[in-house]
Amino acid sequence: MTKNILMVGSGGREHALGWKLSKSNFVNNIYYAPGNGGTFNNLDFDINKFEKIQRFALEFDCMVVVGPEEPLTKGIVNELSGNVKIFGPTKEASRLESSKSFAKNFMKENNIPTPSFSVFTNPDKAIDYIRKSDKPLVIKADGLAAGKGVIVCDSENDAIEAVKRIMIRKEFGLSGEKIVIEERIFGNEVSFIGISDGNNIIPVATSQDYKRIYDNDKGPNTGGMGSFSPSPLVDEELFSQIMNRIMNKTIHSMRNDNNPVKGFLYAGLMIEKETSQPYVLEYNVRMGDPECQSIMMRLKSDLYLYLQATIEKNLDNLPELEWNPNPAICVVMAERGYPIKHEKGNLINGLDTPVSDKTMIFHAGTIKDKDGNILTNGGRVLGITALGKDFNEARGNAYNIIKHINWGLNQQYFRTDIGKLNMT
Ligand code: GLY
Repeated sequence: MTKNILMVGSGGREHALGWKLSKSNFVNNIYYAPGNGGTFNNLDFDINKFEKIQRFALEFDCMVVVGPEEPLTKGIVNELSGNVKIFGPTKEASRLESSKSFAKNFMKENNIPTPSFSVFTNPDKAIDYIRKSDKPLVIKADGLAAGKGVIVCDSENDAIEAVKRIMIRKEFGLSGEKIVIEERIFGNEVSFIGISDGNNIIPVATSQDYKRIYDNDKGPNTGGMGSFSPSPLVDEELFSQIMNRIMNKTIHSMRNDNNPVKGFLYAGLMIEKETSQPYVLEYNVRMGDPECQSIMMRLKSDLYLYLQATIEKNLDNLPELEWNPNPAICVVMAERGYPIKHEKGNLINGLDTPVSDKTMIFHAGTIKDKDGNILTNGGRVLGITALGKDFNEARGNAYNIIKHINWGLNQQYFRTDIGKLNMT
């Protein structure tokens, strides 16, 4: 029952998933569409043109694994699932991620804890609401915005400016035609992810990511500048609270609405400081990036079996996933200037730095040229991922590799505080 895999996507998440799947006894070849400079068997496919993907999967007997949200929300699973095995949720279930107003209304209807909110399609009404509010606010573009459409505001002026950016200057295009204005709650963010077959959900290891560009969580939001796993904030009691009040409830309510979530379900949580209660800030219907890199580093079970059981809707036959008890961290090396404006096409030096079984260099925005050189090809370039007996050792292992990698004088940028656990 061995199978090939066609991994859809080009990020660090897809490199990490493919790396883990390559260790399965049930997997032969892994193909990437389109992959990156660190992956092999790359296919020059557009991830939003599903026919080529289907044809290849049929011809080469592949299970299709979809990494990023865009093809999911455009219906790749709806189109392919009658013909090939494909891991991921349908377009309808993907609305949990593709529409923040859908997700917020779903949570409200199903009594899943989330900060209070209002939805607006008219910027004047939104600004009027902000002026009358005496609460700290977060302004969110309704649609997809590569993790950049959420603006956390410190003042009324910030919130009004956010509405103008999203709705008037249309910085996120059609994704900003509608906005959610949410009450800001304070605490620590945790990424809580599970694999679900629509009826059952098996949690993966807890993790946290770093959304802001600069150390100490300063600067604008990015797709994620680093991650670590596990999250020390989630003790046994909080874990079961999250499973009962959020993850299981989400899966069962979506199933009851005829929108079963098959694939990864990621709840972006805020653990409120004063009450230690978890609130869902947002859902994603895919693995987190770069959480995936830290999580895959710790996974001991055979991932392929869980993907297959998801597709076949029999996850309840499998045991809980097994984890390396040692923590892992992932430090993202980015092009300087990301997430605003950055170069690409720079030659990356030091990729031959020896790595051990405790470290991995996952590629994201990289490309191989015709001479075999690896060049930068995006904002987030590499995810340097390491295990350690504790977070300090994992940090040491990751940052030691980073010292050897560069693509020009100060052209690379990374945060220096990933895995420093100074949560307050
Ligand atoms: N790291 C955040 C995300 O994947 O959405």
